[in-house]
Amino acid sequence: MAYRFLSSRIVPSSNRLNRRFIFIFTISLSFTYLCYSILFCSGTIMPTQRLEEHRCIHLKNMGSKKLLQKSHYCTISAKARIISDETRAVGLLNLTGNQSKHSAFQKTQDVVDHKQSNNSNSPKYGNKKLPNALIVGVKKGGTRAVLEFIRIHPDVRALGTEPHFFDRNYDKGFDWYRGLMPRTLDSQITMEKTPSYFVTREAPRRISNMSRETKLIVVVRNPVTRVISDYTQTLSKKPDIPSFEELVFKNRSQGIVDTSWNAIRIGMYILHLENWLQYFRLSQIHFVSGEQLITDPAGELGRVQDFLGLKRIITDKHFYFNRTKGFPCLKKPESSSQPRCLGKSKGRTHVQIDQEVIEQLREFYRPFNVKFYEMVGHDFRWD
Ligand code: A3P
Repeated sequence: MAYRFLSSRIVPSSNRLNRRFIFIFTISLSFTYLCYSILFCSGTIMPTQRLEEHRCIHLKNMGSKKLLQKSHYCTISAKARIISDETRAVGLLNLTGNQSKHSAFQKTQDVVDHKQSNNSNSPKYGNKKLPNALIVGVKKGGTRAVLEFIRIHPDVRALGTEPHFFDRNYDKGFDWYRGLMPRTLDSQITMEKTPSYFVTREAPRRISNMSRETKLIVVVRNPVTRVISDYTQTLSKKPDIPSFEELVFKNRSQGIVDTSWNAIRIGMYILHLENWLQYFRLSQIHFVSGEQLITDPAGELGRVQDFLGLKRIITDKHFYFNRTKGFPCLKKPESSSQPRCLGKSKGRTHVQIDQEVIEQLREFYRPFNVKFYEMVGHDFRWD
């Protein structure tokens, strides 16, 4: 009471007015800030995706070191969206009738491809460079898994789509090829994957013309499982193709395998490897076990990082086993909201094949496998 009385006497009335004004101004400022924070962070008013993009834009204005770390976050978020787009695309495919399956697949795949290339080209920093490392094969070996796993490394920038430059588009020239690549900083590795390169006769020569120092990754898998996987994929797009047995054998009773069927030829790894070794040293080629990629993705990715001269950043902390999918998936990255599995076209249930046919195929591939093990100095234990 005494204080109030004194202050009303001592402090002039204009001062009291000023204080009141400052007090009200501070309260209203705090209130505005509170409202702004609630509105900005709310997913319902500004969807998470927009929020992430907003963050990415801000981060682009940071110093290059920080940019390198943070841009990784931006890419991860974008990639998470792409994979869910791919899943949606395949879901759409399942809803369409048989006749329209192929065209529906093409259309939806185009959507995914378009988004992936957009993603790859989105950063506005660094330069477009020809790739230093390529995943050259093999089809159905697990090439998508390796690419998606290695590209979470902050020092890797990868093209999401398969450019097919060294097989189908070589006449378009290196400038066209370079133009497809994501922008990279000098410290980053540029990568792409096109599994058909491994079985393309001209590919090793053409790649060595680009650079003799190119690092090559080949994901190999038991050729018998691989051919069944390949057939299952084709059947899902073209349900009217002949049976597996009809395609595999020239003469079933004599067990003569038809090596003119490309799906069979792809698995004769040693033949293709000999062609590559005319242009590249064996030490420039790294073989990933498609089987171990499923049972121990971190182990395989550790070796891929070593081979590429990268710090081992991708470890078992990045993976978890998704029981529903039956495959390892990427754990949710620190700054992203969703864990990520590959799309539905990866990890399909295979067509049931007669055990006798499987045995005949095993016999057929055995000598090729043995020579392949000897050449690369590693027994993949497919026999
Ligand atoms: P299946 O669909 O026959 O199971 P590619 O990407 O070269 O086409 O290879 C596809 C294969 O990758 C799949 O063949 C699957 O077995 C294998 N794969 C390896 N790791 C995987 C993962 N984490 N998720 C899904 N598929 C994976």
